[in-house]
Amino acid sequence: MSQGTTTKTAPQSYFVKSFGCQMNVYDGERMAELLGDKGMQAAASADEADLVVLNTCHIREKAAEKVYSDIGRIAKRAGKDGGAKPMIAVAGCVAQAEGAEIVRRTKDVDIVVGPQAYHNLPELVAKAARGESALDTDMPAASKFSALPGRKKQAPSAFLTVQEGCDKFCTYCVVPYTRGAEISRPRGDLIDEAKALVDAGAKEITLLGQNVNAWTGEDEAGREQGLDGLIRALDRVEGLARIRYTTSHPNDMTQGLIDAHGDVAKLMPYLHLPVQSGSDPILKAMNRSHAAESYLAIIERVRAARPDIAISGDFIVGFPGESDEDFEATLDIVRATSYAQAFSFKYSPRPGTPAAEMDDTFVPAEIADDRLQRLQALLNEQQQAFNQASVGKTTTLLLERNGKKPGQKIGKSPWLQSVHVETDAPIGSLVEVELVSAGPNSLGGVIIAESGGS
Ligand code: 5AD
Ligand code: SF4
Repeated sequence: MSQGTTTKTAPQSYFVKSFGCQMNVYDGERMAELLGDKGMQAAASADEADLVVLNTCHIREKAAEKVYSDIGRIAKRAGKDGGAKPMIAVAGCVAQAEGAEIVRRTKDVDIVVGPQAYHNLPELVAKAARGESALDTDMPAASKFSALPGRKKQAPSAFLTVQEGCDKFCTYCVVPYTRGAEISRPRGDLIDEAKALVDAGAKEITLLGQNVNAWTGEDEAGREQGLDGLIRALDRVEGLARIRYTTSHPNDMTQGLIDAHGDVAKLMPYLHLPVQSGSDPILKAMNRSHAAESYLAIIERVRAARPDIAISGDFIVGFPGESDEDFEATLDIVRATSYAQAFSFKYSPRPGTPAAEMDDTFVPAEIADDRLQRLQALLNEQQQAFNQASVGKTTTLLLERNGKKPGQKIGKSPWLQSVHVETDAPIGSLVEVELVSAGPNSLGGVIIAESGGS
């Protein structure tokens, strides 16, 4: 840390760059609101900011290493006054996992702040400006959320973190170490924040959590309820048109939540339910605590409740000990499930996780690469087929941004597909369209009515 070397001037402008998952995007927005609330100006890019916050991801090695090349690049730039480099803060999961190590590795970092401590960011900025050490990776019992300012202007689709942390301890995963134990934010706070988001312009809210469907809270009468209870409460928020949630664990997929997919109209027909592998021995070694068959049984129940639901998933190939036969079982579960969308990764050993110790059974990189290619080819085929099957449907889009062509807008279908459409309706409108064409990553639609349902 450039502690004691110079006394910097307090930064006037900031830029927050978030990597990784949607929870980081949410945290990034909250940090920006916090700095704005303290009178700092939002810069248009990292190049123009006096303070650059790198909100980092530690889930795979590539993501974690990226932060160091970014720091190097930013530190080369002189500050606006032609003197000092901008102040650099490392936030997020790399900050939590590596803490003081970051400061040992590079002298260019002024602030290190973990995901549970970022409400202290303004104080850390002030400390760094005085040339003092500014490191905070505490995981305090009191929630950071109550120390954050109210929600500001929102895009049509907003994120709302309802649950953080993970108690599942999948053997490959750093999350239980970087984000800590599972905690659920109180229901009343969440309903208040949802209303504030809607007042600020949001039409859709995606409830976020590393294990979002492990959320628990109390209803008005003090009875314990699960995520379905929260969804039903949000269903009553006026002005909110759509509700989504991610990411879910198969073991927390309660019948109540499945039923909500059948009878809560605002709950969109999309479920991200990672399986990781289709092989029972590998699932066991991953400590996933579900088997291929029990996963498929959940999918069947979800489809019974909501036949048109789009299923999405995460996969890891090349987990230690994965044989050809194990990998074939993964392809089998993909064929049996039929995914609308998916994310697949090559296993990356993470320091401190149990799987990283299984190094005598590491799968050679060429084999893992080949498996990833084969898996992705199948998943892409399924995504394309899902999109193709949507052609001819009449549905509602939430317009989110302008397209490249004049008059073109891009909206999201209920199944989270990006749809291009020509319309004068403003961003944030719900419009009714007929889906007329499909590519692998987006569809084309034509307007039927300028104001749609949900
Ligand atoms: N290596 C590769 N992929 C990983 N994931 C989590 N940890 C690892 C790792 N060590 C993937 C999982 C998870 C997604 C967010 O990232 O598929 O669901
Ligand atoms: Fe990681 Fe498993 Fe928890 Fe997901 S459920 S965050 S993969 S430990």
